[in-house]
Amino acid sequence: MLDFKEIIAQEIEKATGLEKEELKSYIEIPKDTTMGDYAFPCFKLAKELRKAPPVIAEEIKEKLKIEASIIKKIEIVGGYINFYANNTSLVESVLKEYHEKQEQYGNSKIGEGKSVVIDYSAPNIAKPFHIGHLRSTVIGGALYNIYKFLNYQVTGINHLGDYGTQFGKLIEGYKLWGKEYDVESNPIDELTKIYIRINELCKEDEQVLENCRNNFKKLEDKDPYCVEIWTRFRELSLKEFQKVYDMLGSKFDSWNGEAFYSDKMQEVVETLENTGKLVPSEGARVIELENMAPCIIEKTNGSTTYATRDLAAILYRARNYNFDKALYVTSYEQVLHFKQVFEVAKLLGMDEKYTDGLEHVPFGMVRLKTGKMSTREGNIVKLEELLNEAITRALKIIEEKNPELEEKEEVARKVGLGAVIFNDLSASRIKDEIFDWDTMLNFQGETGPYIQYIYVRTKSVLEKAGYVPNYEEIQVSVLSDKASFEVAKTISNFEETLKQVADKNEPSILARYLIDLSQSFSSFYNANKIIGEDKDKQDARLYLSYVVGNILKTGASLLGIEMPNRM
Ligand code: ARG
Repeated sequence: MLDFKEIIAQEIEKATGLEKEELKSYIEIPKDTTMGDYAFPCFKLAKELRKAPPVIAEEIKEKLKIEASIIKKIEIVGGYINFYANNTSLVESVLKEYHEKQEQYGNSKIGEGKSVVIDYSAPNIAKPFHIGHLRSTVIGGALYNIYKFLNYQVTGINHLGDYGTQFGKLIEGYKLWGKEYDVESNPIDELTKIYIRINELCKEDEQVLENCRNNFKKLEDKDPYCVEIWTRFRELSLKEFQKVYDMLGSKFDSWNGEAFYSDKMQEVVETLENTGKLVPSEGARVIELENMAPCIIEKTNGSTTYATRDLAAILYRARNYNFDKALYVTSYEQVLHFKQVFEVAKLLGMDEKYTDGLEHVPFGMVRLKTGKMSTREGNIVKLEELLNEAITRALKIIEEKNPELEEKEEVARKVGLGAVIFNDLSASRIKDEIFDWDTMLNFQGETGPYIQYIYVRTKSVLEKAGYVPNYEEIQVSVLSDKASFEVAKTISNFEETLKQVADKNEPSILARYLIDLSQSFSSFYNANKIIGEDKDKQDARLYLSYVVGNILKTGASLLGIEMPNRM
């Protein structure tokens, strides 16, 4: 197809002698279309060429030779060179490419031969799967789908919190009061109660705390009683977590949690010992680090830590998945943890390829209007309940707006879950998220339900027409109006959008894109009569609607959102 950015970059390369791929990455698509369809910011070259940006712009423009059938006008504004695409050639090339690629449109080969490991979700056994884990599950899940779409070899890992001193506490609590609680039928709630109660006792009684620590040590040493209780906690918890994964459609290739590394940490400790950098500190053993707190490898009683397990996991993943990138999707509360772990990993003697590929993908906290959640105080919002509430609320809205709708429950499920997922992904991930039902369920806002609603419009217009026009018979020239052109231009940016998501590990770029595409379609829909004009116009506009609908559906499914056929 006609790749406008490519053509522009090629010409600027000829004019300046600078590297094309780099030039291409500078090209912007201005929000304000009076600034052209593509813009090249010359200030990026000012340093290299030692000239003022407007001067550079003039000089480049003089040398450009782009056919008017492709770029109809070139203008200089300040340090920018603005390019105005020839509407028809752009629309034509976009639709042609769509026709050739269909479902594969937007897909690229950048991932071929590359392996990426994504560590996400990772709730903690015997603790509630709360709203804080929702973001990791949703962001990690979106990245998982998008990397796959870009042809990476992807491994999704659920690094369950199934190990650590808290199990020493739980085992102690269970020993003391196990019979008082109905752990079998309501595991997470009951275990949480035990956990809260034992924590209280630990605060009062130093001996109990010591017993808990020893229980954990016994667990590491494979004491049969401790292992048996632990296994039960794990199985019961997973059964509950799976309910949430089923609702969200989450998939994992590996469920190796922290406990999986219990026999793999010795190697880490020994390797670190051999570097001479593992030093005693207040009874523990640590690695001192520059400009940050030391990383604790072994606690006072000889137990390993969360960090030691992550180090063992890095070795394991490098060996078994030969990763180019290893991503860790957690809240920003763990920024220091991963900085420490990634620094210490450099001492493990691995190829630099692996240590370079480690990347923390942090996200902001989810805040309810009532404040932050924490397990220890028992102020918990359970994710399963929350997702069910989203569905109930969506159903209520649908009943008001469209009481005649068929299969309301199924539509409500897609809309409710779509609203929560989109809300989680729509803002840049590092931002804190305020969880507000009215905002995320607003059908006219920048929301999941909005893109679903626009998708349904594309469906219903095609249904009303009763056919999908044949691409070969379409007169693209009738799509020369501004609104059609804007839709096509947005479509053409799909591939670049997905590449950027992978480059920055930022699914919000795709969420934003789907809003842009929906809004441009909405303007097109309002400006143009689709059915009932002459046949050429009707076919061309229908085809454009068809393409928009398909891309919205593909894009939404990459985010983990299902589209209803009506709503
Ligand atoms: N279980 C941890 C938590 O709930 C997250 C684990 C993240 N992954 C990792 N490899 N450390 O905070």
